[in-house]
Amino acid sequence: MNYDVVRQAPLFSSLSDEDAATLQTSMTSVTLDRGEVLFREGERGDRLYVLHNGKIKLGRTSSDGRENLVAIIGPGEMFGELSMFDPGPRSATATAVARCDLISLGHDAFHAFLSDRPAVAQSLLGALARRLRRTNDSLADLVFTDVPGRVAKALLDLSRRFGQPVDGGVRVAHDLTQEELAQLVGASRETVNKALADFAGRGWLHLEPRAVVLHDTERLARRSR
Ligand code: CMP
Repeated sequence: MNYDVVRQAPLFSSLSDEDAATLQTSMTSVTLDRGEVLFREGERGDRLYVLHNGKIKLGRTSSDGRENLVAIIGPGEMFGELSMFDPGPRSATATAVARCDLISLGHDAFHAFLSDRPAVAQSLLGALARRLRRTNDSLADLVFTDVPGRVAKALLDLSRRFGQPVDGGVRVAHDLTQEELAQLVGASRETVNKALADFAGRGWLHLEPRAVVLHDTERLARRSR
C-alpha cells in the first residue's frame, strides 16, 4: 500500500508532509475481496477507514432480515467514524462489493492527531455535514419520489462518482447486483427491475452485468425530480 493515498483523501488533503508522515506511522492497511465483510452492524468499533480503491457497501438489516444500503463508499472517502466519535455499536455492516484497498486508523492515534490539527477536524465536520445532507435527501426521496425516480437519481449519483465517458454515453461500473441496487433505493427487486427495463426500452440506458451505460442523462435527471 502506498501511504500517499492519505493525502489524496479529501479528509487529509490539508496535511503538511510532516503531518502525513506522523499519521502514516499509526496507519494499518487492509485488503478485501468482493463479498468480504470488514465489520458488522452492532459490533464494537474503534477504527476509522479510508478507502483507497474499490467500493464498499454500508448496509443495515431489519429485524425480519431485509437489507437496506445506506451508502456506497468510493475511493478517497472515509467511514467507520460514528462509533469512534460517539462510542457505541457500528451502525452498519461494511462489505466489499469489489476488491478494496483501505487504510485504517485507531481511535487513540486519530484523537491525538486531531487535537492540534483544526484543519483536519474541519474537513471531518464538512464530511459529516455532507453525509447528513445526503441522508436528509434520501429520506425525503423515500417519502416524496416514486421508485423509478429514485432509481434514476441513484444511477445519476453513481455516474457522477464512478462514471467513465464512452461512445454514446457514460459507463457506470457500479459493481452492484440488481438486488443491491434495489436495497440502495429502498424498493423491491421486481419494482427496480421494471424501472430499469422501462428506461432501457426508452433508450435512456443499456444494462450490463454490475454496470450500466447511461445514454440520456438529461431525461434521467428529469425523471428523478
Ligand atoms: P460506524 O457506525 O462506526 O460504522 C458504520 C459506518 O457507516 C458509520 O460509522 C458511518 O461511517 C457509515 N454510515 C452510517 N450511516 C451512514 C449514512 N447514512 N450515510 C453514509 N455513511 C453512513
